[in-house]
Amino acid sequence: MKTVALISTVGGAGRTTMAAALAVLLARRGRPVAAADLDPQNMLGAHLGLDTFARAGLGQAMAGQGVPWQGTTWRNADGVLFAPHGETTLAERTAYEARLAREPRWLADALARIDFSERGVALVDTARFPSQQAAQAVRAADLVLCVTPPEPAACATLARCFPSLRQAGALVKVVVNRLNPAREMQRDALALLRAAVGDALELAHRVHFDAAMPESLARGAWLFDEAPHSQASHDLHGLANWIDAWLDGIVGVDTDVDSEQAR
Ligand SMILES: Nc1ncnc2c1ncn2[C@@H]1O[C@H](COP(=O)(O)OP(=O)(O)OP(=O)(O)O)[C@@H](O)[C@H]1O
Ligand SMILES: [Mg+2]
Repeated sequence: MKTVALISTVGGAGRTTMAAALAVLLARRGRPVAAADLDPQNMLGAHLGLDTFARAGLGQAMAGQGVPWQGTTWRNADGVLFAPHGETTLAERTAYEARLAREPRWLADALARIDFSERGVALVDTARFPSQQAAQAVRAADLVLCVTPPEPAACATLARCFPSLRQAGALVKVVVNRLNPAREMQRDALALLRAAVGDALELAHRVHFDAAMPESLARGAWLFDEAPHSQASHDLHGLANWIDAWLDGIVGVDTDVDSEQAR
């Protein structure tokens, strides 16, 4: 099983949306998929179909309250096995962050206990980078997806963090989310980012802005089901195809033949 961490240096970049969407799209491609929520906002479960916030989850397990996280997992309609963060108090988070600092491979060890075949994949949503949660996810990951909006502050902070992300040894890729190519400022921000990260920023790894994305979530649906021919749905499928090929060890494949047209 391989692990994919989704991190970002700004809030609201779209990593929870992306983690949930990719989990479902990879499950629909026949992969065993697990999703872990390491963000105290505890939102991943809502994206994956829970109608209330899970009370118990990884947060309590990390805080060492004798709650094994395996006992607080759920499975969604597409077969994604997911571990919510759970509702935690500030004291619990302070305790578990200290533990994560002491046990840098806590998450990697926990994920290693998932009984998946080699074809399996675990996707990890995290608190904003830098944080203990994001550091754990990066350490456990084979692939780190840095989700970023094409905005100057987001691109500048990611450019600054990028060298330290690469040090962990995983493959690191940038996923630009909420792209609106008509906005010149976005092109400038991406040019700045590309200068800092080089080929980690690939044209195929981007999702266009689509106002229907939050609306679909509010209806408990997926944009790629409700509007399968939209640009953002096409982008999400392209990204899922790329990850699917990467999981099979096929790198450098062109999984998005329309990417030049979509610019
Ligand atoms: N491509 C997109 N186009 C339009 N809206 C989007 C897109 N991607 C995500 N959103 C919306 O942006 C908002 C933030 O997304 P999300 O919660 O996934 O970000 P996040 O990085 O997990 O945020 P947080 O830092 O709060 O955890 C949500 O309302 C989501 O529906
Ligand atoms: Mg989130």
